Amino acid sequence: MIRLSPAGRKALLTLHLVTSLGWLGADLVLLTLGVAGLRGADPQVVYPAAGLLVTWLFAPLSVLVWVVGLASALLTPWGLLRWRWVLVKFAITTAMLGLVLLALSPTVRRLGELGPDLTTRDRLDLVIPPAVSSTLLIITTVLSTYKPWGRLRPAAPASRRPADGSRRAELEVSRTAGRRG
Ligand code: HEM
Repeated sequence: MIRLSPAGRKALLTLHLVTSLGWLGADLVLLTLGVAGLRGADPQVVYPAAGLLVTWLFAPLSVLVWVVGLASALLTPWGLLRWRWVLVKFAITTAMLGLVLLALSPTVRRLGELGPDLTTRDRLDLVIPPAVSSTLLIITTVLSTYKPWGRLRPAAPASRRPADGSRRAELEVSRTAGRRG
């Protein structure tokens, strides 16, 4: 299995933090635009701006966050299927990626086209989804720092562990995870 050098791992973690927390930031900007639209701000400004934000930043970041998050799991001793907090984060991010690409992006484009004919129901489409997704991303961030719920499966017995430095990496994970699970 490919494992990163300490410098490579730091670089990947930095990329993971910049992309995922940038994603949360972009989501909060979308929510701000949605609330402004609901409160009567000019729809000809708010919804085209939201369309640009989703098309050029939020949707591409969703894909990048998913890929870099997956790499952060698979290329480090955390793994994807070893710790509950990692798997739950992956599930949340995957669900969000699908919703952003299949539901939010077309909806925001439609809102941009409707212009002044928007109803309150339409305007809520740019308030409720970003409010839910920002909350999910804040929960994801908390899961990342507290790393709750321990392991999914017990660690392999010492005799079955490969002698290629993985043991050192496992110890590193246990230390970081505060020996949970
Ligand atoms: C595909 C989805 C994701 C996976 C599989 C994933 C996995 C991981 C893994 C394995 C680490 C530890 C990396 C290391 O120690 O080198 C990590 C760190 C972190 N992740 Fe994610 N992540 C995902 C998405 C997210 C998202 C969406 C956010 C926030 C919005 C996030 C926030 C963080 C933070 C803040 C850390 C640093 C925690 C620390 O160093 O204590 N992750 N992630």
